Amino acid sequence: MKRNFKNKVVVVTGGASGIGLATARRFAEAGARCVLLDMDEQNLALREKEFRVAGYEILTAACDVTRQSDCEAAVKSVIRQTGGIDVLFNNAGITQRSRFADTRVDVFCRVMAVNFFGALYCTKAAIDSIIARQGMIIVNESIAGVAPLVGRTGYSASKHALHGLFTSLRAEVRHLGVQVMIVCPGFIRTNLQDRALGADGRVTNRPQSFVGRQHTPQSAAEAIFQGACRKKPLLVLTFMGKLGYWVSRLAPGFYERQMIRQFVDELQ
Ligand code: NAI
Repeated sequence: MKRNFKNKVVVVTGGASGIGLATARRFAEAGARCVLLDMDEQNLALREKEFRVAGYEILTAACDVTRQSDCEAAVKSVIRQTGGIDVLFNNAGITQRSRFADTRVDVFCRVMAVNFFGALYCTKAAIDSIIARQGMIIVNESIAGVAPLVGRTGYSASKHALHGLFTSLRAEVRHLGVQVMIVCPGFIRTNLQDRALGADGRVTNRPQSFVGRQHTPQSAAEAIFQGACRKKPLLVLTFMGKLGYWVSRLAPGFYERQMIRQFVDELQ
């Protein structure tokens, strides 16, 4: 049976921008009560206004997901105000573009703190409520979470760590009626790459390589919403994403050679 999200409480981390924002809008259109968590308070305030003008029920909370206390306080406050959490979309993320040999260790720590520990803290804080409501956890991973990616060793490591955590958690909670859906979006036009960290930890202006065309956050959001309705365990988006996923599974050596060719410019 398909899931219905009418009146369900859907919490989206990194909900002030990009894929998180578009996905929250799509759930709101379906009648969900959305909660946006983000560290970008200015954008959060703008989004809250937009949702209210559109007539959607909305809550927002400033939350830096790298701080466990922020995640716990935000989740507690959501549960107090709404009664519980039906869907947690672990979406907040940052990326990095730099050669491993040049990259400072604190850049890896920062990427892990946002992408991996942020999802861990929010899920830990929300898990009892999600189990009680036989809810769903959605995780925004990447093809780089299931396959290698040169020039983004920290990013890929953080997404692989998410993959291990959430595929294992799925096995622990499935019998309780909780679904875990992992999303690998392909290339989506958002602010992610404009804020990518370089080797020294500052935002980099190194050009980015693409494979195929970039898709819109709205198209990703529609696919994520439909995937959640159908309780999909893994959702790989875009034609190039699907191609990359299957080639990396079936012919990993060939995938590595092709991927290096596509991204070699970033290593110069
Ligand atoms: P975005 O930059 O537009 O949105 C990311 C949001 O996360 C922003 O609102 C930002 O303020 C928030 N955020 C960053 N650090 C945070 C922190 N410490 N605490 C709370 N919020 C924080 O980027 P996009 O593309 O929408 O990224 C969303 C997710 O999608 C990320 O996890 C990213 O890795 C993943 N993804 C994106 C792809 C793309 O091509 N755009 C491809 C594959 C995965």
